[in-house]
Amino acid sequence: MDWGMKNRLAQLIQRDGRCFFLPIDHGYFQGPTYKLEEPGKTIKPLLPYADAIMLTRGVLRSCIDPENTKPVILRVSGGTSIVGEDLSHEGVTTSVREAIRLNASAVSTSIYVGSKHEHETLMNLARLVNECEEYGIPVMAVTAVGKEVEKREARYLALACRIAAELGARVVKTYYCKEGFEKVVRGCPVPVVMAGGPKTESELEVFEFVYDGIQKGSIGVNLGRNIWQHDYPVAMIRAIRSIIHENATPQEAQELFNEVKSGKKKVVCGR
Ligand code: 5RP
Repeated sequence: MDWGMKNRLAQLIQRDGRCFFLPIDHGYFQGPTYKLEEPGKTIKPLLPYADAIMLTRGVLRSCIDPENTKPVILRVSGGTSIVGEDLSHEGVTTSVREAIRLNASAVSTSIYVGSKHEHETLMNLARLVNECEEYGIPVMAVTAVGKEVEKREARYLALACRIAAELGARVVKTYYCKEGFEKVVRGCPVPVVMAGGPKTESELEVFEFVYDGIQKGSIGVNLGRNIWQHDYPVAMIRAIRSIIHENATPQEAQELFNEVKSGKKKVVCGR
């Protein structure tokens, strides 16, 4: 592996082999998503606890301070909206030159396996990998499921993750599933990170699935809404971070969450 590729991956995946990516790219098809109306304000208190942020070039340029930020995973696919006909009809929106100009540590694109536009999104990934490998830029594939909740099961997720890895993704983002998640990870020869999905009823649910996913081989998360849509986002990010980087159990994470929420614990990220 070239030095540049190794270096960029090391910016994202920490020395303990784990990672915590904070995505704020949701507006690229959802518009001003709840609590992400002003992305810069939303993530300011969260940034110290993230290993990297995932976002589009528009939000990066207009909302993120270039002198005080974290490694960037640049979303380079899009061209659809929640009110449009088909979320899977994505193209590549941002050039690799632009990713280099923006000093991205990685780029990401969605693949919609089993959808009407499966082929185009897989070819988007393959083309992006061809180009990015020339410059030592890792591509993270986002295995997207659109509105179809039933696709969040092991057989489907394993299929999508493996295809992404076969096409050359260096990291694959997928959803966690309760049954058979270890098979999803085992069948994917590159690191797997988990998305959070829509906001859950309780924070413990999130701590439990992140913990379980890590035990089953995932290296971390690319998790947004369950952090920044929560009433206590800093407590959430700190608790989830403790599972990923400090091997905390869900119960320990819950205790940390309660302490930060009540103001008993105020220390900024101890890294
Ligand atoms: C959709 C994405 C998100 O980055 C991903 O789904 C993670 O976010 P969340 O935890 O909110 O599901 O790729 O644009």
